[in-house]
Amino acid sequence: MRLFLLAAAVFALPVTALAQEADAPLELPPVVMSTEHPGEVAVEPYDRSNAHAGATPFEGTAMLEAFHGVEGIGRVVDAMIDLSIEDPRIAGTFVSHDMVRLRRVLKEQFAYILGAPVDYSGRDMATSHRDIGLQAADMGALVENLQIAMDREGVDFRAQNRFLAKLAPMKDDVVTR
Ligand code: HEM
Repeated sequence: MRLFLLAAAVFALPVTALAQEADAPLELPPVVMSTEHPGEVAVEPYDRSNAHAGATPFEGTAMLEAFHGVEGIGRVVDAMIDLSIEDPRIAGTFVSHDMVRLRRVLKEQFAYILGAPVDYSGRDMATSHRDIGLQAADMGALVENLQIAMDREGVDFRAQNRFLAKLAPMKDDVVTR
């Protein structure tokens, strides 16, 4: 009896389901490139190195403390990006780029430079900006937004200026026009 019920359960349901599927158009699953970070668009493979961060880290913990640790750095990056994607001078630059990835790797980059025990996993600055066609004025706008973000976080001016001095030489790799 138990065997009969089992057989009925196995045969009764799938037959109707199969009949419906036979008429339905064949749908293949979309091809999805794998990414190790959910919510991000996969990128072409590249070598990883902290040297790609474009600056050597500060020694000691003073700068990390001035930015209120990794959490404070995260807030600064988020505020800088939030301001930049609403900033009519540069908002268009970010359209159709992966902002989930950009926020993640920028947080890594800033944290690494500011002396946190964090590795930078993104691409180097020249490769990252090669096809964007940035001008010096774009760099100026982004730095202004970073300054507003650091002010909001309560980062003291000396620490702000020391950090901006680390970023300044990257202009040569970032600005291509
Ligand atoms: C010193 C200044 C800058 C630093 C440190 C910096 C840092 C970065 C980093 C870490 C990435 C991600 C790299 C990766 O995906 O592997 C990136 C990409 C990007 N940056 Fe910058 N950036 C700077 C200046 C700028 C400026 C001025 C703009 C535009 C106003 C800009 C727009 C972008 C965009 C749109 C991407 C995404 C590129 C892509 O999707 O492949 N960046 N930047």
